[in-house]
Amino acid sequence: MDQLRIRGGQRLRGRVRAAGAKNAALKMLAAGLLTRDELVLSNVPQLADISTMSRLLSAMGAKVRRHGDTVTVRSDGLTSTEASYDLVKTMRASIVVLGPLLARAGSARVSLPGGCAIGARPVDQHLKGLQALGAEIRIEHGYIVADLGQKRRLRGARIVTDLVTVTGTENLMMAATLAEGETVIENAAREPEVVDLAGCLNQMGARIRGAGTDRITVEGVESLHGAAHRVMPDRIETGSFLIAAAITGGEVVVEAAAPGTLDAVLDKLREAGADIQTGEDWIGLRMNGRPRAVDLRTAPYPAFPTDMQAQFMALGCVSEGVGTIVETIFENRFMHVLELQRLGADIRIDGNSAVVHGVEKLSGARVMATDLRASASLVIAGLVAEGETWVDRIYHLDRGYERMEQRLAQLGALIERFGAIRPSTA
Ligand code: EPZ
Repeated sequence: MDQLRIRGGQRLRGRVRAAGAKNAALKMLAAGLLTRDELVLSNVPQLADISTMSRLLSAMGAKVRRHGDTVTVRSDGLTSTEASYDLVKTMRASIVVLGPLLARAGSARVSLPGGCAIGARPVDQHLKGLQALGAEIRIEHGYIVADLGQKRRLRGARIVTDLVTVTGTENLMMAATLAEGETVIENAAREPEVVDLAGCLNQMGARIRGAGTDRITVEGVESLHGAAHRVMPDRIETGSFLIAAAITGGEVVVEAAAPGTLDAVLDKLREAGADIQTGEDWIGLRMNGRPRAVDLRTAPYPAFPTDMQAQFMALGCVSEGVGTIVETIFENRFMHVLELQRLGADIRIDGNSAVVHGVEKLSGARVMATDLRASASLVIAGLVAEGETWVDRIYHLDRGYERMEQRLAQLGALIERFGAIRPSTA
């Protein structure tokens, strides 16, 4: 398994380009199932999860082609509506094929995604919403088996989700595009990725209004057509680079970014003492002196994103003062704390709160990534830890960050990837 070796102490400087958003592109690939025509997606990041989704669609008979950062999906000849356990177990987001398959083909057999490192992550709201749209659903042998019974199409409905769910909203929104009549999704997720997906679907001929608010209305249509859509920049990757710059006392510009999707994160960085400048599609950060500790609480958009919690905790580890981080979205998203403590961090967990006492310095050690964002926080902490930090299990990082070590090295970090064979010094 690949590992990263980081030698801490370099200030990051320079420019880096944000890649396309993983959490937008994944759902748009699944949206390709909603039409017989070709869907052309550009600015698609090169990530393990994108490859998994492509394999999932290909296994159903869709033709998925990649040229550089452009992926085309054509699913005119679907041969199966099954998403197998072997693929779904590697990527929970596979659940978003359920809505499109039901809407387009009238049936679906999708492996029930199990829990993951950060939480139980049930899909009850997805199923509740699809049943409201007229689907008949049962769980059999670990699979969600869904069809339309005697009905020819799904039918519009008013759905109130019990909690804000991003992929739940997206699954229901996609299913509703081909339903008979109007669907209203109340308590909908407002994440920018939901808005980008709605934009892509509307380019395919869907009639979606209100994406970005907590009430989304979808007027169902008979069929959708092909389209070309550019995936939005990845705001979580962008935020991760900015925190890497801040923790090293550096000066970095992230280009091809979407500043408007990062307000809560930029506010917290300013509170920590960063000087932030923004333009239409770039964000510049300069950090003079030691960061100040801040308190933060994760919550659905537009509040502070849970996907930035671990990275911000790494910054808190070397900040001046004490900060409290409250995680309200996932019940087990502090796995990185034990590993940060191995680097000398002073963090105390109490339920879904972590109290971070900033220390003068961290010291390099061997640490292990446990999930995608935890791996980013360990890399960021390694950038300032004295000596060498070795991060194991970086396949987690590759799921959501495109060539992360090369782009950090471009900014001046001393970071290298090693396969199974490590230099004798390790
Ligand atoms: C999406 O996950 C993202 N993943 C996650 O990013 C992100 O952390 C999360 O939204 C929250 O912003 C993708 O888009 C692929 P939720 P999702 O449904 O949709 C509970 C990353 O690092 N819930 O909004 O699966 C759930 O357990 C990943 O890129 C139910 O109880 O998250 C959680 O506690 C990690 N029942 C909360 O709601 C349901 O039916 C929010 O989950 C659905 C969700």
